[in-house]
Amino acid sequence: MYPFLYRHLLSRIEAEAAHHRGLGLLAALGSSRIGREMLRALAGGHPTQPVQAFGLRFAHPLGLAAGFDKDARCLPALQSLGFSFVEVGTVTPQPQPGNPAPRLFRLPQDKALINRLGFPSAGAEAVSAALRRWQAVSDRQMPVFISLGKNKTTPLTHALDDYRAGLETLYGLGDAFVINISSPNTPELRQLQTRAYLTDLLRGMSEQMKRSAASLTPAPSPTGRGESMAADVLPIPKPLLLKIAPDLEWADVDDIAQTALEQGIAGIIATNTTLDRARLRSPQQREAGGLSGAPLRQRSTAIIRHLHQHTEGHLPIIGVGGIFSHADLMDKLEAGAVLAQAYTGFIYRGPRFVHEVLTENKFTSRLCT
Ligand SMILES: Cc1cc2nc3c(=O)[nH]c(=O)nc-3n(C[C@H](O)[C@H](O)[C@H](O)COP(=O)(O)O)c2cc1C
Repeated sequence: MYPFLYRHLLSRIEAEAAHHRGLGLLAALGSSRIGREMLRALAGGHPTQPVQAFGLRFAHPLGLAAGFDKDARCLPALQSLGFSFVEVGTVTPQPQPGNPAPRLFRLPQDKALINRLGFPSAGAEAVSAALRRWQAVSDRQMPVFISLGKNKTTPLTHALDDYRAGLETLYGLGDAFVINISSPNTPELRQLQTRAYLTDLLRGMSEQMKRSAASLTPAPSPTGRGESMAADVLPIPKPLLLKIAPDLEWADVDDIAQTALEQGIAGIIATNTTLDRARLRSPQQREAGGLSGAPLRQRSTAIIRHLHQHTEGHLPIIGVGGIFSHADLMDKLEAGAVLAQAYTGFIYRGPRFVHEVLTENKFTSRLCT
């Protein structure tokens, strides 16, 4: 049914408008029990394949990548659709509109998207309110990751202040946090991946994680009674991950991994969208922005394999880029990823995406031939 709906309805609506209608529908359906049951029925069941990673439990390895639910509006619906975890955001500390439209393009012949959204965000305070609403109804079965970014107007030299501010506001509301320095759509952002900035950024964020963890822990009572934690034992901060670009030289990937290990980063998300336009067929390839979907698949898998081998498995990896099928998921896991995420595959394949990827229902792409 979804391929039919996509071909005859959704693909005729401008891409970002279709996305907002989809989000609105998901938010509405997710807000009622009957709506969530409808979504569960539509999604089909999926086998449980538990994964333990980052001190968290995941029902299976496939989550939803950052950028789909930027403002945390649809978490109940996304859980009903079967994702084992969702990365919300990227959230900027202050609200910002992002780049001028049009800024999202379909490349159906390539099973791809190009976006230059530029972090449209409701801002950390608004996302914090949305996450509180989610926490009030959540059964805590689906970990939520929060992707943090910087505002466009913040200079690189003050980027740490923005990432820190986002973390301070949202620390109590996520299960893990992701430093996004790999979007191609915020001017100069990717420069934060170079050692000149990265060491200080990661050190500053690791320190903020410890401070935020400590501020969440109740202070020891003067009598010492009723406290499970001794006053001199520091709470363990939640996991902090780093998301990297696919357009890096191998030496840069190695440098980032080394810095991440030195600064106690829990894991790497590989990868964000690419600026590469090789071997595309769709005329929309001329649009500026980050390319996602099938053309990114091999490059992101190569980066995962390289990272896994180079760090001898010491830096857990979440693999993302071009997952449309069970084979694509397995490639990421076999390359060394502990978990995987997808975005573009979900857009093209629809509500049964998780079910189909996990159970390998035969998928013949009527959309993309
Ligand atoms: C429309 C769109 C918006 C995105 N926004 C974000 C974002 O805000 N933060 C981020 O880290 N990644 C963002 N991404 C990148 C995805 O999270 C993912 O890394 C990338 O699309 C590759 O996965 P895919 O091929 O499964 O789509 C976005 C991707 C798309 C298509």
